[in-house]
Amino acid sequence: MKYISVAIDGPVGAGKSTVARESAKRLGFIYCDTGALYRAVGLYCTEKGADLDDACKVAAVLDEIKVEICLIDGVQHVFLNGRDVSEEIRLPEISLAASAVSAVAEVRAALLGIQREIAENNNVVMDGRDIGTVVLPNADVKIFLTAAPEVRAKRRYDELIRKGSNVTYEEVLADLNKRDYNDSHRAEAPLKQADDAILADTTDMDFGQSVEFVCRTVKERL
Ligand code: DC
Repeated sequence: MKYISVAIDGPVGAGKSTVARESAKRLGFIYCDTGALYRAVGLYCTEKGADLDDACKVAAVLDEIKVEICLIDGVQHVFLNGRDVSEEIRLPEISLAASAVSAVAEVRAALLGIQREIAENNNVVMDGRDIGTVVLPNADVKIFLTAAPEVRAKRRYDELIRKGSNVTYEEVLADLNKRDYNDSHRAEAPLKQADDAILADTTDMDFGQSVEFVCRTVKERL
């Protein structure tokens, strides 16, 4: 059986995860957040005290890591060596660690199979940075979701504040710009819009409109 895959890529805070999750629900597909895999590797390296800027050191710890994704009651959980780290990987310091380890070719190679296997066995909406370009180059629908940096920073800031964080907007914007830079300037699978991806600029769209756009685009293309 051929399963349908929808690739959603874009920069930090474009609303990929919330929009992709809700769109998957409406389409009856599973949702896969691939950033969680890089975050799990980033968490492990942080706990180990590995130098995140040293690609060899990061690559060297990969043998010690087993990362798995499981759906529990329809919600994605990430396991690092059997431990459910789904909450911890959301900490802001782990965001930067994830961005750093994601530049390491060996890390990307190690996580590629997990992502492709999910798409081989499910109708999926998968979000990340290189899904349409590298992970699923033959995805049925590709969407590049973005928005102006200030709008993305404000959305991310509001989300963190809701979760009880005391970060400032300036910190969030600086972190976002740094990660955007890292993610789009790395040599390995940099963040970029696939040639055949549809651009969704959500600067002036709210959440509902963004979900509507994605679902409509998917239905039109299938
Ligand atoms: O989507 P996110 O913020 O949870 O992703 C965390 C980091 O992982 C992000 O800064 C870049 C990296 N990443 C990646 O390189 N490729 C992906 N497919 C997903 C995430």
